[in-house]
Amino acid sequence: MIKNTDELYDRIVKHQELVESDPYRLHYHIMPPVGLLNDPNGLVYFNGRYHVFYQWNPWETAHGAKYWGHYVSDDLVHWESAPPALAPDQWYDKNGCYSGSAVVWNDQLYVFYTGNVKDEADNRESYQCLAISEDGIHFEKKGPVIHVPEGYTAHFRDPKVFYHEDRWYMVLGAQTEELRGEAVIYTSADLENWRFHGPLIGSGHPGIGEFGYMWECPDLFQLGGKDILVACPQGLSPEGYAFQNIYQSGYFAGSVDYKNLSFDHKPFVELDRGFDFYAPQTMVDPTGRRILFGWMGNAEEKVVQPTVKHEWIHALTIPRELVWQDGRLLQRPVEELHHLRADEVHLEDVVMEGKVELPGVRGNVLELELQIADWQADAFTIGIGKTTRIHYTSDSNVFTFERNGADGNGPMESRQCIVEELRDIRIFKDTSSMEIFVNGGEEVFTSRVFDDPEDGSIAFSTESGRVLVNARKWKLE
Ligand code: FRU
Repeated sequence: MIKNTDELYDRIVKHQELVESDPYRLHYHIMPPVGLLNDPNGLVYFNGRYHVFYQWNPWETAHGAKYWGHYVSDDLVHWESAPPALAPDQWYDKNGCYSGSAVVWNDQLYVFYTGNVKDEADNRESYQCLAISEDGIHFEKKGPVIHVPEGYTAHFRDPKVFYHEDRWYMVLGAQTEELRGEAVIYTSADLENWRFHGPLIGSGHPGIGEFGYMWECPDLFQLGGKDILVACPQGLSPEGYAFQNIYQSGYFAGSVDYKNLSFDHKPFVELDRGFDFYAPQTMVDPTGRRILFGWMGNAEEKVVQPTVKHEWIHALTIPRELVWQDGRLLQRPVEELHHLRADEVHLEDVVMEGKVELPGVRGNVLELELQIADWQADAFTIGIGKTTRIHYTSDSNVFTFERNGADGNGPMESRQCIVEELRDIRIFKDTSSMEIFVNGGEEVFTSRVFDDPEDGSIAFSTESGRVLVNARKWKLE
């Protein structure tokens, strides 16, 4: 049964107090007003404002028939809620207006999304659909523009559309009938008629090997002279510190031959090392920056996060600028986040040896920046709150993030990666989220953390020696 908009607003209003009374509610992240949020969708700058849409099930804190929720901003940090852009109310999208993207063409906003359809026996169909808006707020659905081609299953979704040289391109996440994940490509002259060109890259292709049974949410863009294909493969097994979450997200960097639609690329690199990062999408802003948002979730569905008691779950990451430097992708929190800074604490040349607490360095909604000026120790640890911990050892070069379980109920669990030399750490904490940028964004750890929400303590310690740091800390408001 399709519910109407009045019922939806009633539900938001009815639950507002319960949602907002959650001590784990975030302060500077995009969250659902009620219900479940997942992927960022349709990131775009249109008519002077930033638009972020998101996968939204307003009716429960579980996956289901998704809407496109919508937020608008002048500056990427203060967000205003807009009416839901798309509801699952047509035969071709009745079980969900799934993920997709947006482009501006002839002063109109074109959004492409996947219409998800299931019958009583749970058989799936999928359609790539178009909806158009004049004002960026109200959308007119135009229906399917692409049907699943031969050789593919109905796991065919998440259109990302972009313009290159003289035509439109669409990359899509796909599964072949042999159950291999691929990113396939279409072209168009008018955004309505699309021509299929097959896979650009996929599991089983030369240089990749077996690499997952389905790829979700691809994105393809140029940055610093490279072509970057972002994809979210499902079905990879853990390898050392890599691929530890249920699903992965990362990128292949190389060069796309747009004439022959082939891609010469380096191996897959994970975008984030934390517990909760998935389905990122990017956009270019008017100054040419490539900006990424990810879904700050990736937990298995059986995990019940404590926010569920307050009728909401999941959030998006902070916006990050992508930079290509020295053969890798860096992620840097966008500069506009500086607008949120208040009450600066600035400590120069602090000698850390043994256990140390820094005056004024505490809180739950904060940014903390540490520059390592000199390293003469075996290990350095930052304890945040009661149970969250960051640890670096210089003999093995292992950087570790630890938290008390996906639901805040333990046991302790960790994510790790190799960091050759630790130069700086930048931490964004927002009550129940933590985004840690290491060495100017070479590595990022994004996680939800359900620690004691009242405990704003931060404690530092070293093993076998001293570390000299410069620290700056801000409250974010
Ligand atoms: C990724 C994803 C997409 C799909 C959407 C549905 O998290 O599974 O592939 O379009 O979520 O909400």
